[in-house]
Amino acid sequence: NPALPSAAALLRWYRAHRRALPWRATDRSPNPYHVWLSEIMLQQTVVATVIPYFNRFITRFPTIETLANAPDNDILALWAGLGYYARARNLIACARAIAATGRFPDTLDSLRALPGIGPYTAAAIGAIAFNLPIVPIDGNVERVTARIFAIQTPLPAAKPAIAAAAARLGNQPAAHAAPGDFVQALFDLGATICTPRNPSCLLCPWQSSCTAHAEGIAPTLPRKTPK
Ligand code: ADE
Repeated sequence: NPALPSAAALLRWYRAHRRALPWRATDRSPNPYHVWLSEIMLQQTVVATVIPYFNRFITRFPTIETLANAPDNDILALWAGLGYYARARNLIACARAIAATGRFPDTLDSLRALPGIGPYTAAAIGAIAFNLPIVPIDGNVERVTARIFAIQTPLPAAKPAIAAAAARLGNQPAAHAAPGDFVQALFDLGATICTPRNPSCLLCPWQSSCTAHAEGIAPTLPRKTPK
């Protein structure tokens, strides 16, 4: 069995190659409002589409208070094109709930209590904005993890095994030292290297510890139960 892939090696790769996304702080102190807004926008929309919307939002509403105090129609007009009207309604309710408390919620439970924030989004905001030691599981993290451990069970049955395996990856000292960078490194690895069809295994910082790569089956994972 290959060794557990090194969180330190992934973080070295990330610090050299990370995507310059507008919600990523470069000074190591992420703005929770920016992280929250980006995660809500990224729930059902790809990064490239989100970037100009995100930039327009933070230009027009530089703080969560300015967003919370804006008329619904101004916010909905800026959201138009992102789709999912319910998501925009939740965004407004969430901004007002946070602004009313005067402080950004910084625990998984308090994040999950907010409108529009489920387990994935709470984990993403918790890890990225507040360095809580948790690995949010999106499609990218699922794919990377299924390949690293060559998990052959098809989705969705594989979800518990993938979650447990992703938690093992995140339970290394280097990941605990920088949970936000660690999860964003996983997102970037999945988006740019460990891609669904033609993964760039030669460029992967985890190539030597990837069981699917060793077995030549990386592009076939994760498997999916036919509909
Ligand atoms: N997908 C979801 N959250 C993301 C993030 N913070 N960076 C890149 N892709 C993401």
